[in-house]
Amino acid sequence: MSDDIYRGEFRERVLSGRPRSILEVGAGNGTFLRTVKGDVGRLTALDPSAEHVAQLQLEGFEAVEGSAERLPFPDGEFDVVVFSYTPHHVTDWAEALHEALRVSRNGVEILDVWYDDTIADQRTSHAFDRWMKTIHRRDGMVHNDTMPPGAMLAPVLAWRDVTYDYVCRRFATAVNVDETMQHCRELLAKVQNDATLTREYEDLIAAGRRDGMTEEGAIMVTIEKRH
Ligand SMILES: C[S@@+](CC[C@H](N)C(=O)[O-])C[C@H]1O[C@@H](n2cnc3c(N)ncnc32)[C@H](O)[C@@H]1O
Repeated sequence: MSDDIYRGEFRERVLSGRPRSILEVGAGNGTFLRTVKGDVGRLTALDPSAEHVAQLQLEGFEAVEGSAERLPFPDGEFDVVVFSYTPHHVTDWAEALHEALRVSRNGVEILDVWYDDTIADQRTSHAFDRWMKTIHRRDGMVHNDTMPPGAMLAPVLAWRDVTYDYVCRRFATAVNVDETMQHCRELLAKVQNDATLTREYEDLIAAGRRDGMTEEGAIMVTIEKRH
């Protein structure tokens, strides 16, 4: 599955600088942390969910409750700060990135979902993703659109004391359009077949039948502090 490939490549990027300490912001159930366990001296998790934090502590991780926009750590506390599939969940990305750079000694590593909008089947998948997130937001969830490199890097573009690089990856794995639509129908039922969402859904079905759909790609960004 492409998610495993992206996570494997991201692990290599994070470990290439041989960090001795990592803070993961938005650690969730620990999927990223488990990929680097044993390779890094100090692993710290932060997440707003008390449930996730308790579960990570049970697994032996140092874990604290908190939010990306206000990190409860002093300046330069960790070699590297990681965001793994978290940026599109954060309310204020600029604030989150500034905070991550503040508490890191060397910089920040980011992995998130990315779609290649120059390709028809990716545009369809991206449109489905946006549509589903509209419904998730109605339930109060922070679930923003994916960020292309420019949006991901916008908060630091004016900074002279950081350098960055990024890669966008994508494997052309087809998605089963019928299964996706079934999932969308279930979501529509939950919002009582809202007229606007129903119309958009019908347009999406037409696009899915015409152009097909493919799995999401990934963006990996490294932002390094100049010393
Ligand atoms: C898709 S999960 C990613 C989990 C994990 N990092 C991984 O690689 O699978 C997103 C996580 O971001 C967390 N999150 C949501 N809003 C956040 C915020 N403002 N600050 C930090 N984490 C947040 C959620 O609680 C959730 O655990």
